[in-house]
Amino acid sequence: MRKTLQEKQARLEELRTIYGNFKEQPFQLNLKRGVPGRNQLALSEDMLTILTPEDLYQEAETDFRNYGVLTGIPEAKKFFSEMLETSPDEVIIGGNSSLQLMYTVLASKMFLGQPDRNSAWSKEKTVKFLCPSPGYDRHFNVTEKLGFELIPIDMTSTGPDMDQVETLVAGDASIKGIWCIPTYSNPTGVTYSNEVVDRLSKMKTLAQDFIIMWDNAYVVHHIQEIKEHVQDILETSKKYGTEKRIWMFCSTSKITFPGAGVAALGACKENIDWFTEVLSDQTIGFDKINQKRHVKFLKDKEHLLQHMEKHAELLKPKFDIITDLFKNYFKDSTMLEWTEPNGGYFVHLTTVDGCAVRIVDLLADIGVSLTEANASYPYGVNPQDNSIRLAPTSVSVDEIEAAVKAICLCVELASLEKELSSNK
Ligand SMILES: Cc1ncc(COP(=O)(O)O)c(C=O)c1O
Repeated sequence: MRKTLQEKQARLEELRTIYGNFKEQPFQLNLKRGVPGRNQLALSEDMLTILTPEDLYQEAETDFRNYGVLTGIPEAKKFFSEMLETSPDEVIIGGNSSLQLMYTVLASKMFLGQPDRNSAWSKEKTVKFLCPSPGYDRHFNVTEKLGFELIPIDMTSTGPDMDQVETLVAGDASIKGIWCIPTYSNPTGVTYSNEVVDRLSKMKTLAQDFIIMWDNAYVVHHIQEIKEHVQDILETSKKYGTEKRIWMFCSTSKITFPGAGVAALGACKENIDWFTEVLSDQTIGFDKINQKRHVKFLKDKEHLLQHMEKHAELLKPKFDIITDLFKNYFKDSTMLEWTEPNGGYFVHLTTVDGCAVRIVDLLADIGVSLTEANASYPYGVNPQDNSIRLAPTSVSVDEIEAAVKAICLCVELASLEKELSSNK
């Protein structure tokens, strides 16, 4: 039943009283950071003592304690090629961060240029990059700080809006690439459909040196029964002769230890050769001891998936309680839409237009810290002001319950405030 204006006013007063009580006794809750919880970190503790000195030099052709083997030890290449679905010679093993590999690819494209592909992008007047939004703020920061102009693209339930993408890339040679998080995207949890992968692979781009930054950070990070899988873009692009545009990334940051994991890059042989040369001026070799430790612990794809089941067991109750609480609170209301991802690290909220900043501010004042509203948009600018990201993995189920109840309250309060002020 629809409420009258007076009933809505009375409800707003009631919410303000409840909110006032919370303000006197604030929470201490933080759902800002997309990091594993302590119980997830414990799953990989055995890795810390798994290595023996013999692992590093007896069986290996090379002594892993020493310099060298720039592109990664063979067993790590095999392991990550299974994860990225490439062949081992289409993989480079990096250091502890895939984001750093992404930065290096883009900075090298910008300042060094890739032979046979025009020249360094810095020689051009303008360089633009497509940013499916909401997306990952650190991606957008990399391209913004390298001096690219960021173009937002709408995210749909199957990936970036491909009509927008195709139209833009066909008509503007200064558009050099697109950011993609193809599996359980940050923050919407969307996995790209086969059609999107196909269209990205075959679309005509005016820029001959267009690239696709395929950040598969959540490739094995399933939470629910349904395990989503994205079509292999390197293989698909080979059908259309566009494989040079593909740059794929992943890491073990949210599999073992963030900051002490191993990152990998996948690409066609020609890109691998160029990037190996770029890297050779930066380092004599990455941490092979950590590579060996990871492969000995995670073994192969099958064992990796078993390990990820243990993460899922810990994460599922956290995601389920969010869904249950929102479903219950907003069952008769259109004040909030939320995602129910099958994997990944985030839940994304779409609020009434013009309310996201207000909601996050209201929550901050009662001790519930969330990522800044609209941070998932290029330059942090979302004209609709309706985007909030929740990162529930590192807090307990009880804390999530308390935080989500506070979120429900603040969503209703801010939405009613907005509605009643526009009725004045
Ligand atoms: C989409 C995405 N890519 C990359 C990263 C960071 O990965 P890494 O630790 O390998 O640098 C994150 C971390 O939250 C992420 O969400």
